[in-house]
Amino acid sequence: MEYSDLLIEQHGKVVVIRLNRPKAMNALNDNMMNELGDALYKFDADPAVNVIVLTGSEKVFAAGADIAAMANYTYADTYPGNYIGRNWEHILNVRKPVVGVVSGYALGGGCELAMMCDFLIAADSAKFGQPEIKVGVTPGAGGTQRLPRTIGKSKAMDMLLTCRMIDAGEAERTGLVSRVFPAEKVMEEALAVANTIAAMPVSVAMQIKDSVNRAFETTLTEGVRYERRYFHAGFGTPAQKEGMNAFLEKRKPDFDGL
Ligand code: HXC
Repeated sequence: MEYSDLLIEQHGKVVVIRLNRPKAMNALNDNMMNELGDALYKFDADPAVNVIVLTGSEKVFAAGADIAAMANYTYADTYPGNYIGRNWEHILNVRKPVVGVVSGYALGGGCELAMMCDFLIAADSAKFGQPEIKVGVTPGAGGTQRLPRTIGKSKAMDMLLTCRMIDAGEAERTGLVSRVFPAEKVMEEALAVANTIAAMPVSVAMQIKDSVNRAFETTLTEGVRYERRYFHAGFGTPAQKEGMNAFLEKRKPDFDGL
């Protein structure tokens, strides 16, 4: 598939998917979300890729769902017609790590898409917000669910009800993002983080991702049991043999293809 709303770059085992509708502040329309789903599944299945980075431009990650496209939707177009939603959550099916890198605005559906990444790295220019109420709707891709789970109810309610944007510093303090870098260095730093992960055994990275996500869907006891199964199964894998032997032999492990 040729992409008109995405740019793709590959850096070793890291692939960068860049949202690219510059004239519309990367507003997320149906075509872009279809392309994003296609790209995510393609790279998830590609043995040459260990980590996916999802980003936008220096100015904007994404300013939300495309308001021009949605303005005349009727209810029949949405739930019954299956517009808006159908192709938004493919990212949750990706099994390899997905690192989101946010520079500039991540608003509305843009903030929601960012929160579907496994973790977020931000430029100091980043601004996160859920301004849907101002365009007369509720968030529709997890804003009322993932935001309070991530930054707590009080701050989430404040953002959702007043449309207040939070900057990179507040996003880091509240746990919405894991690290903040100066805007001009953020991609270089994010690629270094992604390459660190890409040098680990991808099979184990996938298991850790699955286990961490399980933490949000189940009880602690069940989650720990789930994790233990992966831990035990690890002893049947080459990654465990290579990792533990390399440690004992005082050499760097080679997890290529593992
Ligand atoms: C369509 C958009 C857009 C959007 C910006 N543009 N955001 N088009 N949908 N979400 C367009 C503008 O219309 C304008 O087009 C161009 O991008 C530049 O935007 P400006 O507003 O002129 O830029 P600026 O003054 O720098 O302000 C940037 C901004 C602002 C703060 C990001 O554009 C903004 O507030 N955007 C809307 C944010 C929003 O409400 N998002 C939530 C959407 S609802 P022209 O043609 O005039 O140059 C949502 C629901 C999710 O996301 C549901 C998920 C299932």
